[in-house]
Amino acid sequence: MPVIPANIEDYRILCKKRLPKFLFEYIDGGSFSETTLRSNSSDFDKIKVRQRVLRDISTVDTRCNLFGEEYKLPLILGPVGIAGLNARRGEVLAAQAAEEKKVPFCLSTVGVCTIEEVRKKVENPIWFQLYMIKDRGFMHSILDRAQEAGTKNLVFTVDMPLPSSRYRDIRSGLSCGSMFRRQSARIYQSMLRPRWAWDVGLLGRPHNLGNVAPAVGENAGIDEFWTWMNKNFDASVTWKTLETIRDYWKGNLIIKGILDPRDAIEAKKLGADGLIVSNHGGRQLDGALSSISALPQIVDALDGEIPAILDGGVRTGLDIVRAVASGASAVMIGRPWVYGLGARKKQGVLDIISILENEMRVAMGLSGNTCMADLNREMLV
Ligand SMILES: Cc1cc2nc3c(=O)[nH]c(=O)nc-3n(C[C@H](O)[C@H](O)[C@H](O)COP(=O)(O)O)c2cc1C
Repeated sequence: MPVIPANIEDYRILCKKRLPKFLFEYIDGGSFSETTLRSNSSDFDKIKVRQRVLRDISTVDTRCNLFGEEYKLPLILGPVGIAGLNARRGEVLAAQAAEEKKVPFCLSTVGVCTIEEVRKKVENPIWFQLYMIKDRGFMHSILDRAQEAGTKNLVFTVDMPLPSSRYRDIRSGLSCGSMFRRQSARIYQSMLRPRWAWDVGLLGRPHNLGNVAPAVGENAGIDEFWTWMNKNFDASVTWKTLETIRDYWKGNLIIKGILDPRDAIEAKKLGADGLIVSNHGGRQLDGALSSISALPQIVDALDGEIPAILDGGVRTGLDIVRAVASGASAVMIGRPWVYGLGARKKQGVLDIISILENEMRVAMGLSGNTCMADLNREMLV
C-alpha cells in the first residue's frame, strides 16, 4: 500500500483496504471476462499526444461550458448505484466535494441518499440519472421529484435493459446463493472491516435506496433491492418509448450508453440535448468497443449538433485531454470518485478531482495547449 496515495490507482488500493469485499468487488468489477472494462482504460494508452515546446503556457484554462453552465473542468462525477454505502451518506459527501471543485455531480436512481437529501446539503441543483422503470407511473413520480429539486440535466441510461452477469458479485455473496449464504458472507466481510462496519454499517443508516424506497420498501435491504431491480428492468424499451420521456421532461435530456454512431443519430432525432458515449464502465456487454475507441465516429455522426460526453476508463488528467482532443465535450467518471470516497470519504473525492485537474493542466501545457478550444485531433499523433 502506498504511504501517501498519489494517483487514482493508489486510491483504489486504499479503498480496497477500507471496504468490505462485497462492496469493493461490486465497484471494481465488470461483466463476463472484463475485457471491455480493461480496454476502456488500456485503449487510452494507445493514443499518443504531440509534445510541443516554447508556446507560453504560463496560464492554462481548463474551464468548460456544458448545457449553458460553466464548470471548472470538463469532468462530471457520474451516477453510481449504492455509492452511499462507501462512506456514511456517501452521495451527499461526493456532491459536496463536486460543488467545492465546481464540477457537476450526477445522482443515480439507485443511490442510498434521496435526491431531496442531497439537494438540501448543496447550494446548487445536481444532475440526476434515471433508468426506464416498468412501473411508468412511479417513474414519472421520480421525474417530478427531480424537477422539484431543481434538476436541469437528466441523464437517461439506456444500456441496461437487462442486467449482465458480473461474476465477482456472485463470488462475493452480493447477488447469488441462498439468502443465508449471502447474508452471512456479507456480515463476515463487514466484520473484517470494523471501521467501515461502525461508521457506515451502524451509524450510516438508513441503508435503503432512497429514490426507489417508496416502491421497494422503506426498510428494504440489498437483497430486496436486487429483486426489485431485476423485476423492473424493461427489456421491451425502444426509441419510441423514449419519446414519452422526451415529452415529459422539460429540462435537458442526456442519453447515456451510446456506443454506435447509428444510435447517436437516433438520439439526435429524438431531440436529446446531449449523449454519453458509454458501455456502463464495462459492466454490461463484455466485448463491446471501449468508449474511447467508439468516440470519434460518434462525434462525426453528431456533426457538432449536440455534445458527446466520454464515459469509461478515464484514470488520469491526460485521459481527459485525449478524450477532449478526440471530440468529447467533457468526460464522466464512475469508479475513480468512488475509490476516493471509499478511501478517504469527502476528502478522497476532493483529492481525486485535484489529481485529475493537476494532471490535465500539465498534459495541456506540455502539449502546448492553454484552453479547451485548443484541444483537437491535430494534437494527437
Ligand atoms: C459500482 C457502479 C455502479 C454503477 N451504477 C450506475 C447507475 O446506477 N446508473 C448508471 O447510469 N450507471 C451506473 N454505473 C456506470 C457509471 O455511471 C459509469 O458509466 C462507469 O462507471 C464509467 O466507467 P469508469 O468507472 O471506468 O469511470 C455504475 C458503475 C459502477 C462502477
